[in-house]
Amino acid sequence: MKRSVAIGWGSYLPEKMVTNEELAERVDTSDEWIVERTGISRRHVAAEGELTSDLAVAASEKALASAGIEGSDIDLIVLATATPDETFPATATTVQARLGMTGGAAFDVQAVCTGFIYAISVADNFVRAGQAERVLVIGAETFSRILDWEDRATCVLFGDGAGALVLEAQDGNGANTDRGILTTHLRSDGRYHDMLYVDGGPSSTQTAGFLRMRGREVFRHAVTNLAETVGEAVSAAGLELHDIDWVVPHQANKRIIDGTARKLGLTGDKVILTVDRHANTSAASVPLALVDGIEAGKIKRDDIVLLEAMGGGFTWGSCLMRW
Ligand code: ACO
Repeated sequence: MKRSVAIGWGSYLPEKMVTNEELAERVDTSDEWIVERTGISRRHVAAEGELTSDLAVAASEKALASAGIEGSDIDLIVLATATPDETFPATATTVQARLGMTGGAAFDVQAVCTGFIYAISVADNFVRAGQAERVLVIGAETFSRILDWEDRATCVLFGDGAGALVLEAQDGNGANTDRGILTTHLRSDGRYHDMLYVDGGPSSTQTAGFLRMRGREVFRHAVTNLAETVGEAVSAAGLELHDIDWVVPHQANKRIIDGTARKLGLTGDKVILTVDRHANTSAASVPLALVDGIEAGKIKRDDIVLLEAMGGGFTWGSCLMRW
């Protein structure tokens, strides 16, 4: 059978960094409140005119270079974003053109903070079906553009960035000793729309809108949903929780990450944490954290790595891979 094995990775953060103290000059908040409730100390914010596609291209160029291949060697791009450059065409096609990829296909997927898990799952299914050989999977966001900068309850939580992974179809024997993606699990429940959404869109208001969230309710669902999806992934792969070498969680809030790890009985030293430096970058958060873990020398070949996320919709999901 075909397995999707990661052969390249890269990430990009906009140059401009905004500290909690700087935010406290704009809205009624404090470094102490933000750190205590979320674990966030700073975030990166895209420059004026710097688009989601610019972030995605910067991360992708690094991913292609680390894989030692060119854009023309890719036959599929799946880009996860909730902040596309334009309503259409897909930001993935802009990235495709800028990477010099003239064949294959490129499209966006939209699952907000779970976007990268959805994208990697779609990519893996293309590989397993024999319809793609090399896939570029990207999570890229400019959430700073859909924040209400007057709303202290949300504007302190998010940041901008991008991360990318090159997956290659390689032969496996179907056992959990194979390298590559072992299993992915996607879930959604549209009844929770009002907990986390953007109050605009082409069909409803003809504006981009601003992010609205009932933070406490989101928090309550997050730990339960994330623990469930991790359990599903591990048992589908015929593994146990203690087999996981690294958890790469969506970086929304350190308390959610700690709470989920505790519920699963996993120790903090197995969890990759970037929320302090990146804040919540939605679909970019998992690949940014993954690349951080690789570049820090933590994630090594043959490690069992679990990616998990939850976001608006609600959507949630997991991806278990042998690195
Ligand atoms: N600075 C100071 N005070 C604030 C701020 C702020 N930035 N924001 C809210 N407050 C105040 C509130 O007004 C409230 O005041 P009140 O008691 O006088 O009414 C008080 O702090 C407590 O507010 P809560 O919302 O109850 O605070 P909570 O402890 O729940 O923390 C938070 C809020 C951080 C948003 C938390 O609920 C959370 O992280 N939720 C998860 C949301 C999330 O991560 N969403 C991302 C997308 S989904 C996902 O990725 C999982």
